[in-house]
Amino acid sequence: MTTLDGEQDQLRSNLEIIGRESIGDLEAVLSVVGRYDAEGFHRVEDTCRAEFTWDYEKGAKPQLDKLYEKAKKAQWNAQTDLDWSIEVDQEAVVIANAEANPAQAQWDDATLAGTVLEKWDEKRFVEFGIQNQNWLLSQFMHGEQGALLCTAKIVETVPWIDAKYYAATQVMDEARHVEVFSRYLDEKLSGHYPMNAHLGMLLDDIVADSRWDMTYLGMQIMVEGLALAAFGFIHMMTTEPLLKTLLRYVMADEARHVAFGVLSLQEYYKELSAAELRERQEFAFEAAIRMKDRMAMQEVWERMEVPTADVVKIMQAAPEQDDFQILLFSKIVPNLKKLGLLDAADGWLREKFTEMGAIAFEHLSDSTEEEDAFADGSPAERQVV
Ligand SMILES: [Fe+2]
Ligand SMILES: [Fe+2]
Repeated sequence: MTTLDGEQDQLRSNLEIIGRESIGDLEAVLSVVGRYDAEGFHRVEDTCRAEFTWDYEKGAKPQLDKLYEKAKKAQWNAQTDLDWSIEVDQEAVVIANAEANPAQAQWDDATLAGTVLEKWDEKRFVEFGIQNQNWLLSQFMHGEQGALLCTAKIVETVPWIDAKYYAATQVMDEARHVEVFSRYLDEKLSGHYPMNAHLGMLLDDIVADSRWDMTYLGMQIMVEGLALAAFGFIHMMTTEPLLKTLLRYVMADEARHVAFGVLSLQEYYKELSAAELRERQEFAFEAAIRMKDRMAMQEVWERMEVPTADVVKIMQAAPEQDDFQILLFSKIVPNLKKLGLLDAADGWLREKFTEMGAIAFEHLSDSTEEEDAFADGSPAERQVV
């Protein structure tokens, strides 16, 4: 229920927030399909309020100021700091990755028995691995463009000069991230995918919201929190040296971005009313579900000509796959706790993450304690690999 001044007096139901009652309703998840934007662009109405400040006192927010100074030293050049001469044989990488990570990469015969994948030979699995890489890196690239737009918007909307300064460095970081993923896709992989429908819905919602803190919550806390965990996982798993270094460099930037989100929101959220906090809890929940739904990878299965619903059921039956999906929330949950969003409204969001199986991460340290975020020098100078 929304009152005249826009405040809700109660939490909305799952149906109202995410369009379905049950989080696990696969039919509803798969009914959301992507738009291919045949014109080659996609527009979202954005009605934010651009805010000038006359308070130019640098360092009024000391932690943001410290992060800004670190960010200036941590810049790197996508074209010259990475070794683009490394050749990538995608098929060989898929096979090497599977051999290096048997638990994550292979389903055992018992899991596949009687399923649509039972008759797949080695060649089909390798082809799937290749499509999976193309899809994943495409989604990283689209997500990075979302971050670029959101961060430019934060420069406009956030009221404090220290945050505007820091956000300006993040705009540069995100431009570099779009650049590296785009180049890697074009030169080293074998095809692009359009934006996943669920990720697209979430990015549209984040961009369309006119409240400055919602941009941070959606992007820095949720999307970038998940990206940081995903990059870390792929960095650990991949045997391909260029991607490994590229991801490590991007992660050094993302650690700062997520810390920027938590540092900017933590004081502000202490001032919000219970109704305002409830809205933020619902938005965080909606974002978590959209990102979880994305993992069905429906665009890949369509290209492999296999019904997604059948494969998702196989994935759900394979515990290692499920562990990976849950692990993606490892950065998000402690940060939501730090912001007070897990516990507000009698722990409503805590219950949601309990249902999703991700609540145990609340005991991990939050991103303001991330060492990378405050590290000296660029990844190239630190010889980060
Ligand atoms: Fe990024
Ligand atoms: Fe980022």
